Amino acid sequence: MSTPPARKRIHLAAHFPGVNSTTVWSDPRSGSQIDFSSFEHLARTAERGLFDFFFLAEGLRLREHNGRIHDLDVVGRPESITVLNALAAVTDRLGLAGTVNATFNEPYELARRLASLDHLSAGRAAWNVVTSSDAFTGENFRRGGYLDRADRYTRAAEFLATARELWDSWTPDGRPRPFAHDGPQFGIEGEFTVPRSPQGHPVVIQAGDSAEGREFAASAADVIFTRHSTLEAGREFYADVKGRLARYGREPGDLKIMPGVTYVLGDTDAEAQEEAAEIRRLQVSPQNAILALEQIWGRDLSGYDPDGPLPDVDPDPDSALVQGRVRVADPVAVARKWRALSEAKGLSIRQTVIESAGRQSFVGSPATVAAALEEFVATDAADGFILVPHLTPGGLDDFVDRVVPLLQERGVFRTEYAGTTLRAHLGLPEPVWKG
Ligand SMILES: Cc1cc2nc3c(=O)[nH]c(=O)nc-3n(C[C@H](O)[C@H](O)[C@H](O)COP(=O)(O)O)c2cc1C
Repeated sequence: MSTPPARKRIHLAAHFPGVNSTTVWSDPRSGSQIDFSSFEHLARTAERGLFDFFFLAEGLRLREHNGRIHDLDVVGRPESITVLNALAAVTDRLGLAGTVNATFNEPYELARRLASLDHLSAGRAAWNVVTSSDAFTGENFRRGGYLDRADRYTRAAEFLATARELWDSWTPDGRPRPFAHDGPQFGIEGEFTVPRSPQGHPVVIQAGDSAEGREFAASAADVIFTRHSTLEAGREFYADVKGRLARYGREPGDLKIMPGVTYVLGDTDAEAQEEAAEIRRLQVSPQNAILALEQIWGRDLSGYDPDGPLPDVDPDPDSALVQGRVRVADPVAVARKWRALSEAKGLSIRQTVIESAGRQSFVGSPATVAAALEEFVATDAADGFILVPHLTPGGLDDFVDRVVPLLQERGVFRTEYAGTTLRAHLGLPEPVWKG
């Protein structure tokens, strides 16, 4: 009898909730987004669940809405790599991933910070390279300074290549060698102050969705954090990105695709559906519904009744009403879709936002959710998931207690960490040491 083919293993990561309304901040169980105890709780839970990594997003300027700080949810958070260094001390195996912008940093300094995290964590560092480059964020960094949209990935690609030259600049027997990088974006030379770190190169994650972003990921990233979290969209994205790898001499397994997903568990599927609807109602308060609408429309809609019909007026595609947040690519098309939904089902503004923007990705009993996660990975809609809980910091507890054991029973998730580095958890090749 021939042995059945091994089932594709699932990779799991834990997203520490950002400062948006995915977290139900009004729930008394939700805690601080700043206290170390919150980060520690989520990271320890993820490690108890044998997750690949813990993930921090980044926002470099407080979001604004119609000229005012957006403060309906919580506001403000500490800097990612500092938090990850602290977490390195209270975890042993869990990967530690931080989002850091390639537009507003410099390669030498960031390469030092990432190599240091990799040393302090004994090989668990990861960098989510983002390129968010709008002038609004740029004002925090340099006078009138930001990058044209078209140049963001040119800089990011050279930034990453330069960081890798620095990480490679020490000899295998532990001596610094001079480096020199002379390119269109960066002209630097000297010696790198940090010896080669345990992973050689920290794991690189990419999160942009444009064609340039996908190409950058195919050429240079180890993981993609994507928003394509439905089965059909996931499969299409997966095939597209994996299809770009051969051009760079890379294998499909060299780049893991991990959508950000939400989940709601219940004892039964029906109970979970009820709970999910309640969570959506809490996430989309009447005020949040108007704000969500304004983000699409790019217009001041404060005079509209959240329990009334959608505006007749079309979105302003060039609006700067919302600052510090990526706007949907085609607001007019989204508005059309929302209007059609509202008319077909007779939904108010708030109900339309709840239906359109607030849907959780996986809802059901632990068995239902485990089966759905396996299906995604088995049918190449993803290699794993970045789980976004709706409670801070305890939102991952029930997933780890109730879903992880079922994934293990199904033989699709590890029962212990086999390696010590994040690169090992992800099954990534060792980087070639370029001398
Ligand atoms: C799932 C996902 C998560 C992201 N998280 C962040 C983030 O935390 N901070 C940030 O500045 N940009 C974030 N971005 C923005 C992108 O990384 C990227 O810089 C931006 O979308 C523009 O790139 P694009 O034109 O290729 O989409 C995220 C994007 C995606 C798809």
